[in-house]
Amino acid sequence: MYFKCAVVLTILIHGAWSATEQLKFPETFMFGAASAAYQIEGAWNVSDKSLSIWDKLLHDRPELVVDHTNGDVACDSYHLWRRDIEMLQELGLNMYRFSISWPRLLPTGFSNYVSEDGKNYYNNLIDGLLEKGIQPLVTIYHFDLPQSLQDLGGWANPLITDWFADYANVVFSLYGDRVKYWVTINEPMGLCDGGYGQFSAPYFNDTYVGQNLCNKNTMIAHAKAYRIYDELYRDKYHGKLSLSTLFFWFKPVEPEDQEVTDLTIDLWAGRYTHPIFSKEGGWPRKLEQLLNENAKKQGYHYRLPPFTPEEIELVRGTYDYYALNHYTTRLVRRAKPREKAGSWFFDGSPELNVIFDKDPRWRTTGIDWFAFYSEGLREQLHWLNTTYDIKEIVITENGIPTLDDGLVDILRLDYYKEYLEQILLAINDGINVTGYAAWTLMDNFEWMSGYFSKFGLYAVDFTHPNRTRTPKESARYYSQVTRTRMVHPVVDETELNYVK
Ligand code: NOJ
Repeated sequence: MYFKCAVVLTILIHGAWSATEQLKFPETFMFGAASAAYQIEGAWNVSDKSLSIWDKLLHDRPELVVDHTNGDVACDSYHLWRRDIEMLQELGLNMYRFSISWPRLLPTGFSNYVSEDGKNYYNNLIDGLLEKGIQPLVTIYHFDLPQSLQDLGGWANPLITDWFADYANVVFSLYGDRVKYWVTINEPMGLCDGGYGQFSAPYFNDTYVGQNLCNKNTMIAHAKAYRIYDELYRDKYHGKLSLSTLFFWFKPVEPEDQEVTDLTIDLWAGRYTHPIFSKEGGWPRKLEQLLNENAKKQGYHYRLPPFTPEEIELVRGTYDYYALNHYTTRLVRRAKPREKAGSWFFDGSPELNVIFDKDPRWRTTGIDWFAFYSEGLREQLHWLNTTYDIKEIVITENGIPTLDDGLVDILRLDYYKEYLEQILLAINDGINVTGYAAWTLMDNFEWMSGYFSKFGLYAVDFTHPNRTRTPKESARYYSQVTRTRMVHPVVDETELNYVK
C-alpha cells in the first residue's frame, strides 16, 4: 500500500512518465546472470579433476592475490548448484551463463579421457536449469586451462587450436542437444593481454611475443570450434555461437583525440572482433600497421602474427551473435611528452601512446579501475551495430565492483537500473539486443582481487561451510525488472516472496 502511494506521488511530482518508464523489454528477452567455473565451483581436487593454471599459480604464489585467497572452495557451487538454480528462480531469470572447467571434464586436457563425474556435474546443472525454464548459455573456456597443456606451451602454442577444438567437440557432443547459446572463449584479452602481462594466470611477462601468439591462437581456436559445430551439430541442434569480448567503451577527451580513440577501440575490441565480424577479416589494418612498426623498431618482424589468406577465411564470419562484456567507459587522449601509460588495463597504452582519463563527474566505487557512465553502453551498442554486420547482440556480462557494501547495495541497484535503461533505449533505437547477463549471480573469487572486490547480486558467507547466499537490494530490484520487463517497475512488493 505504502509502495503504491509512493508511486502515485512520484508521478505527481514528475508530472508524467518519462520515455523509459513506459518502455518494456520484449517478451522473448533473456534476463540472466553470469558466472565462471573457477570463480564459483571450488572442488579443485575432487574426483579426477586435474590442476588448472589458476590452481597451480595460486598454490605456488598466494601473495599475488590481494587477500591471499584462491578458488579452492570459492562458492562451492560444485556441491551447491541446486541452491544456485533456486537463486536464479528467485530472481525470475530465464537464462544462466556459466562455464565448463576444461580440467574437470578432460583431466588430461585431451579428448582421450572424459571424466564421468565432470560430465555428470554439467549434465545435472543443465537439466536442473531446463526443468525450471532457465536456458543455459555455456562458456566453453573461461581462463582455466589445464596445467598439463600450459606445460606444453599453452595459448602460445599453435597446437592449442586443435586441442581446444577437440575439447569443444566433446562439449558439443555431450550438451549440444540442450544448449542453444555458446561462448567458445571468454575475453581473449583477459587471457592473452592479462596472462602474458602479469595480470592473470599463467602470469608471464611477455607482452611482445607470447601475448600476440596467444591473440592469434584464440582466433583460430574459436574458428575451428565454430567450424566443427557447423559441420557436425548445427543441423541437429540449431545453436548459436560467439566468443565474448571485454569491451570498455572509449571516448575522446577532445575531438582531436578521436583518431587515437579509434585505435584504442581496435586494440581492445578490434583485435578480437575484426577477424571474426568484419567483411574483410584479419587484424584491424591501422592497428596492425602501427603495432608492427613498433615491433620493427625493436628488431622484431611483427607484433601481431600475420594470418595466411586461408586463416583469414577460416576465421571470418564465425559468429551467430555478438557476446559483449561491458563494464565501464574510459576517456582517451594522446600522451603528453614524457608521459607514459603504465598498465594497459588502468592507464592507457604505451604502444599507442595514449592515456586514459576518467570524467570527474562519473560515479566511482572503492575499486580503482571502475567508473559509472551508463550512456557509454548505448553509444557502444550503436557503434557495434553500425561498424559490423551483427544481427543479434547478447550482453554476456555487465556489473559493478564494490568493496563490501553489505546487503543494501544501492549503488549496484542504480547501476543495473541505469545500464538496463540504456539497453532498453538501444532496443527502442532498433538494435537487436536479445539478452543480458548480470555479472554476477553471487560474490565470488574475483581473480587477483580475491574476495575483496564484490560484484554479486547475492552475498556469500565465505566463513560458513554452507557458503550461505543472501540476496542484496540489487537482487530485489532485478527480480522486479524480470517480472515486469520494466526498468522502473511498479510492483506489489508482497508478490516478491523471497526477499525479506
Ligand atoms: C570479466 C571476466 O569474464 C570475469 O571473469 C570477471 O570476474 C569480470 N570481468 C569482472 O572483472
